[in-house]
Amino acid sequence: MAHAVKGSGSRGEGDPVRVFVLSSPGELARAAAGRLWGIAKEMPEGRTVHIALSGGETPRRAYGTLAADPYRARFPWGRVRFWQVDERFVPPGDPRSNRRMIEETLLSRAPVPEEGFRGVDTALPGPDEAAREYEAVLRRAFPDAPGGIPRFDAVVLGVGKDGHTASLFPGSGALSSARELVGTSTGGDPPVSRVTMTLSLLNAASRIVFLVQGGGKARVLHDVIAAARDPALRSPALPASLVAPRRGSALFLADAEAARLLPPEWRTAG
Ligand code: 6PG
Repeated sequence: MAHAVKGSGSRGEGDPVRVFVLSSPGELARAAAGRLWGIAKEMPEGRTVHIALSGGETPRRAYGTLAADPYRARFPWGRVRFWQVDERFVPPGDPRSNRRMIEETLLSRAPVPEEGFRGVDTALPGPDEAAREYEAVLRRAFPDAPGGIPRFDAVVLGVGKDGHTASLFPGSGALSSARELVGTSTGGDPPVSRVTMTLSLLNAASRIVFLVQGGGKARVLHDVIAAARDPALRSPALPASLVAPRRGSALFLADAEAARLLPPEWRTAG
């Protein structure tokens, strides 16, 4: 059984930076699905559980696993509400759409109720309008949020080779928006306009679950975890390093390839 690894993360002295290393991409997806199931089932009955989902291939695999048994039969679909962390501003149904990916992997396969998902509306005239509309929907959905900032029960994040997370790219203006919950950016692959949750919103979350897979991410994962353990290393050049929940926890789930540069004391075998 893995245990939390003590770190000096920005969440105060001694808060754990938890790093679980899984033997394969399949085990990573199963660990991710299991974690989301664990979070949802531990919530009090009658309480809606809010989970925000990123795009990307690693998250994609986790969603497909969650929508399949054994998780499909156990997950409390009726009281979970899924949201989007970020979206490419492409027409609904476009193959590059994160919403389409979430629909294909999760919403079309699991008994998610109609009101169980709310995402970015890319049928609006532009990314700014979509960001403002999504932010308004979020604020309405969390009317009693402390300081007006919704606190998600869990946020699933990927990490790009360039250190981006969500659609917060190195040097992105959305990194510095202090008041907005949802911003816009451009970049990434595909290099299109994006709508994304901001750090203000992400860092209000109770639980961040990073999913990182593949040898190509080894260097960036090392650097992001180093920054989670030593805040002095956090930088807008490495946006994922700026995700540090103010009153929450960050969990890294990585496969062995992505974790290959992590010192033993940073990691626990999955
Ligand atoms: C997106 C994602 C993005 C993604 C990372 C990791 O819209 O592309 O939100 O942040 O999660 O780029 O993606 P991979 O797991 O495919 O490397």
